[in-house]
Amino acid sequence: MNCISVAIDGPAGAGKSSISRTVAKQMGFIYIDTGAMYRSVALYAIDKGIDTREEKNKVIECLDDIKIEIKYTDSGQRILLNGVDVSEEIRQEKVSAGASDVAVIPQVRERLMDMQRKMAKSANVIMDGRDICSYVLPNAQVKIFLTASSEARAMRRYQELLEKGIECDFETIKNDMEARDKNDSSRAVSPLKKADDAVLVDTTELDFEQSVEKIKELIKNAL
Ligand code: DC
Repeated sequence: MNCISVAIDGPAGAGKSSISRTVAKQMGFIYIDTGAMYRSVALYAIDKGIDTREEKNKVIECLDDIKIEIKYTDSGQRILLNGVDVSEEIRQEKVSAGASDVAVIPQVRERLMDMQRKMAKSANVIMDGRDICSYVLPNAQVKIFLTASSEARAMRRYQELLEKGIECDFETIKNDMEARDKNDSSRAVSPLKKADDAVLVDTTELDFEQSVEKIKELIKNAL
């Protein structure tokens, strides 16, 4: 079967996952959140007491013990780490920072990239991440770089947390987000960068529905 791939990259908080998930549902694609895979590796290492920033060799040694699965249920997509549902746990701030750390390790990227390519061979997918257009699926039929100003991205995350009843500070969120962007963009392997042939979509001035419609339009025009 010749599968269709839609690749979406962009910085944290640009709305990639919520927009991709909605577009995938409406258009009958499988959504693959590659950030959740990096987060799962980080969670496994953190739970083992590994310092994800300083002990890269130990993270690499863990790779053979980690099995990541994406399960599709009525209540949405779930991430299983060695058979355990970690979908909520991987969203903690310490795991966000750990994921950014493990994402600089070439062996981690290679392992996850293999898994991601296999997934894209078996279904029509919308895959989001940082290096999907440039490295993971360079032949994707649709390539999009989704971004927004750091103010707008931090504000969305801030409101999201407030809605969940989680106390937080806007400036701290914005600073953490900018630090993570810097880490993701400046790393030597597969840095976050718009691929030359990806279409730039800036959602700073768009609401969620408008962003979804924009992405759907790009996909429809390309297929
Ligand atoms: O999209 P996210 O915030 O869940 O991603 C978590 C971290 O993983 C983020 O710091 C960047 C990294 N990542 C990556 O390097 N490559 C990907 N394809 C996806 C995520």
